[in-house]
Amino acid sequence: MSSNTAVLDRSIAIVEDQLPELAGSAMHVPLDYYRDDALAAREAELYMTQPRPVVASSEIAEPHDFLVRMSMKRSLLATRDADGKAHVFLNYCRHRGAEPASGCGNARRHSCPYHGWSYDSKGDLVAMPLADRNKELDYAQLGLVELPSEERHGLVWAILTPGLKINVAAHLGEVDEQLTAQGMDSMRYINSLPFEPIGANWKCVAEGVVESLHVPFVHRATFNVDPGTQGDRFTGSTAIDLAIYDRFGPHLRYCLPVFGKDAVPEMRDRISHGGAFDWQQVVQVWLISPGVLIANDSYGLDIGFMEPGETTETSFFRYGWMGPASPPEGFPTLAEMAQRAGDAVREDSPVWEGCGRGLAFGQHGFALIGRNEKGVQLFHETLCEQTGFDGLEYE
Ligand code: FES
Ligand SMILES: [Fe+2]
Repeated sequence: MSSNTAVLDRSIAIVEDQLPELAGSAMHVPLDYYRDDALAAREAELYMTQPRPVVASSEIAEPHDFLVRMSMKRSLLATRDADGKAHVFLNYCRHRGAEPASGCGNARRHSCPYHGWSYDSKGDLVAMPLADRNKELDYAQLGLVELPSEERHGLVWAILTPGLKINVAAHLGEVDEQLTAQGMDSMRYINSLPFEPIGANWKCVAEGVVESLHVPFVHRATFNVDPGTQGDRFTGSTAIDLAIYDRFGPHLRYCLPVFGKDAVPEMRDRISHGGAFDWQQVVQVWLISPGVLIANDSYGLDIGFMEPGETTETSFFRYGWMGPASPPEGFPTLAEMAQRAGDAVREDSPVWEGCGRGLAFGQHGFALIGRNEKGVQLFHETLCEQTGFDGLEYE
């Protein structure tokens, strides 16, 4: 049985039973897990050593396009050079460290605002004022520091530590093929939230993107509305948590069937006659280590990037929407879908910040992750395997 057929079979089973795939027991997450600085340092290490998307390919589509973006307190400059190759640099001048580029646009040269050293879109130092005063300088040694980067799935991924080898497909494992099937290479990305400070630990934010239990409560006017029909996505409390879950190394995926019991006989019939699997009937949501959300949403994908802030009580969240340039007939435009995605996160933020304070200052000992929140449990388990945190407990 192919894994796709298995997903369909499992989806049909939970729809028929009206019961999600459940975790073996409820999980207790000690509040220290959200507060401990030593653990935060180990998590930051993952952020510094694993590939993460910095920009979308479509954001620097043309030669000499560039975009500056913050991550892990660092200013990063993404460019596309004259040959069409994407680069990611630490946006720090080799003179005395100022930031040569800012914002986004198209430029052959980035001239440092402090004393005018100029760099090209390959990161090479190409000019400086009063160059005759420093004739002995070897420009070839004074380019911007380049980070390992790779363009894949319509995104430019980078590792924030220079010198490390990057292999996005190897990092993604089985998820690589699943993302290939999304056709992201030809999609356009629109950033809805640039780099939103959130007053909550990043793991608190991650918890909120791997369950749909909150959607009918928090997102009544956004994610709970089907963009195609404008009808409700989740109508009753029994349907909210119907999902199946898989782990792929440090990554996880949850799938939400978007068909009802009445569709099952026809689907069974189609499967028994060797019919093709229709992904339109099952929404997929990936959480890719460490903190990248990719989720099917109507005719495209929501993409979220969460990362730790300066303290365990803060984080940053960037969010956007990616889809084909022209929407199917009758659907909202790409910009409208991006706006909707941003609005949905603005609905999440106050709730997340409440959780953030609860996890930072509550004295209730542990957060409780129910059996029907298997995505949240898997997130904590996959992360703890990587950081060595051994305090998760089960009822
Ligand atoms: S710091 Fe950039 S030119 Fe001086
Ligand atoms: Fe949400």
